[in-house]
Amino acid sequence: MFWLSKGENLQLKDKVALITGSARGIGREIALTFAKEGASVVICDINTELANQTQKEFKAMGFDVLSFGVDVTKFEQVEEMLNKILDKFKRIDILVNNAGIARDNLILRLSEADWDAVLNVNLKGTFNCTKAVSRVMLKQKSGNIINIASIIGMIGNPGQANYAASKAGIIALTKSVAREFASRGIRCNAVAPGYIQTEMTAKLSPDVTEKLLNQIPLGKLGSPADVAGVCLFLASSESSYITGQTIVVDGGMAM
Ligand code: NAI
Repeated sequence: MFWLSKGENLQLKDKVALITGSARGIGREIALTFAKEGASVVICDINTELANQTQKEFKAMGFDVLSFGVDVTKFEQVEEMLNKILDKFKRIDILVNNAGIARDNLILRLSEADWDAVLNVNLKGTFNCTKAVSRVMLKQKSGNIINIASIIGMIGNPGQANYAASKAGIIALTKSVAREFASRGIRCNAVAPGYIQTEMTAKLSPDVTEKLLNQIPLGKLGSPADVAGVCLFLASSESSYITGQTIVVDGGMAM
């Protein structure tokens, strides 16, 4: 079974993986899962201090990872990071576009600033990182891009028009990238989590959490590891005939 592989059977041995927004939450778990499977992991987050702290924690666990304080909305910062990654590793095999924010409000109260901020980080950030790494992946004739979407991008949600639009955009972007690069050995898929226990969802009141739980057939919120496991599957050769897909990880909520 791929998730029990050890030693020689490490699934991401010799792979270089960049995970955005990986100082905490789902991104951190994806980075740790990939490191455990033998990948050289690059942590990238707008929160430089937390990224460096996460790097220290990974090092204490025996994983030698790189860490960058980068805002994915700034293409020059992404390019600068990529050049440093290439200086060290000469290649990049996996990109996980995970950095994301939410600024919830009902349409009538949703400010232009909050609309722009969410679209900028979630959608433009994904485009920026995809554009930067694809230059290298096209030359390598191999690569694997995984975008973290959300079930909200499929079913919508009152108070989350900006977030839903950004995540629906990511699903469409995923399909276009998959079609554009398939013939060059590059796959691109998305993962659409439901409600996962992280700091992003920690603000939900017990009332709201109770209502949510009633809508989830599996009866519990997901964990970052539930998402990371699917990302590992998509990053590994176990999924080599899958591209352009969005895999939903939501306990059955949106079916
Ligand atoms: P989180 O808020 O715990 O972590 C997000 C990380 O992204 C933070 O470390 C943050 O500093 C970083 N980040 C924010 N803006 C950035 C920027 N401009 N450049 C670089 N890094 C930036 O969130 P969580 O819950 O771990 O979410 C990760 C991804 O999963 C997001 O894309 C989110 O939309 C998505 N997701 C989360 C769900 C949940 O229930 N927690 C459900 C569905 C999707």
